Amino acid sequence: MTALRVRGSVTGLRGELTVPGDKSISHRSIILGALAEGRTQISGFLDAADCRKTAQALVAMGVKIDNLGQDDMVVHGVGLRGLRDPGKPLDLGNSGTGMRLLMGVLAGQDFTTTLTGDESLRRRPMDRIAIPLGQMGIEVTGQGERCTPPVTVCGGQPEAITYHTPTASAQVKSAVLLAGLYAEGITTVIEPGPSRDHTERMLAACGAEITVDELQVSVIGSPKLRGAEIVVPGDISSAAFLLAAALLAPDSQVTVRNVLLNPTRTGLLDILQRMGGDVEVTDRRQVGSEERGDITARTSEPVATEVGGDEIPRMLDEVPILALVATQAKGQTVIRDAAELRVKESDRLATTAQVLQTFGGDVQERPDGLVITGPTRLHRATVNSYGDHRIAMTAVVAGLIAVGQSVVEDTVCIDTSFPGFADALAQLGSNISPDEAHND
Ligand code: S3P
Repeated sequence: MTALRVRGSVTGLRGELTVPGDKSISHRSIILGALAEGRTQISGFLDAADCRKTAQALVAMGVKIDNLGQDDMVVHGVGLRGLRDPGKPLDLGNSGTGMRLLMGVLAGQDFTTTLTGDESLRRRPMDRIAIPLGQMGIEVTGQGERCTPPVTVCGGQPEAITYHTPTASAQVKSAVLLAGLYAEGITTVIEPGPSRDHTERMLAACGAEITVDELQVSVIGSPKLRGAEIVVPGDISSAAFLLAAALLAPDSQVTVRNVLLNPTRTGLLDILQRMGGDVEVTDRRQVGSEERGDITARTSEPVATEVGGDEIPRMLDEVPILALVATQAKGQTVIRDAAELRVKESDRLATTAQVLQTFGGDVQERPDGLVITGPTRLHRATVNSYGDHRIAMTAVVAGLIAVGQSVVEDTVCIDTSFPGFADALAQLGSNISPDEAHND
């Protein structure tokens, strides 16, 4: 088990840097690149555990990928009907996105495939994908009531449907749209709230006929997808940790350049600004189908806020780090409508509360959210990440602002989304080192 020792009471975090590529866009770039005809050139791909698993799964189905993770990476598309039976189960590791999106793709194949994953992924519900695929006439079997992995997708000819998703989920929406590529006619997904829209944008860029009308998105089956050039922007969900650290540490100013600014992902920026956070976006620009820009955060004295409704899907993965900011904000911050967090890499409402309480934060768990009262002076702690990358990074930032030296155990999971996280913080002036006592 790898652990990090974090020196607290950090001040003067300063610098400009970039973060690794966006995880959601990286997954989609190789999946759509594989299904397109011709070459897809990808730069800025997130070369981390989750996306590598998706890449390996595609390679096992006959897709050739040159220079995986390098800036001149090329996916040689096999076309919609060109995937081959991998002849063995596909292991998606920790990646819920990889598994759910591939389930959509596998619905349209003329072979049957089993997908599995690590201990965390094997606890995550796949019924949210099995149900719509079932309505499309595709049989999916999994374990128990929630259809947890290993899951088996019995590919075939999906029927076009109109599906109302019960919760706003980009993974569900994307899986249905990907299955819809293999259907005859129009497949439509209607969401109760706005989830991230990278699949729609990228499908359109690859030549699919996609129509979007507020919360309704439709795709016409059997498109001819063509390879594209995809430049992956930095992941705003990773930048969030550095920006929060700058906001909370005295005498700090940090700029993260080239960060994704898709409005379905920028909820945290709006919330931090509403809390009085000094967060500024500059050099907004459109590259390909996505907007990006530079974000600067400076030391601030945040005040409490309320977060819920449609704002939650726009900052879903940022709830743990927002909760940490809220421990330093004056007043009571209420986060509601976030029950989805209970089925992430860990039960993030429980693990966020548990970790921040160990640091001395006043964080109460609610069935669908958190109530955080601040400001509280955090003290040193030894905490475990529960194998969840976003909890591990939240704990490291908590350790930086706490008084004393903290230890965060089980940090190898950070590589899931943000390889180089500790180095990035060190570059800004913090003191983080491997904790020998806890490392194997
Ligand atoms: C993702 C969607 C989100 C998010 C996850 C990545 C995606 O989950 O939490 O980290 O790439 O589609 P939902 O399916 O709940 O939107």
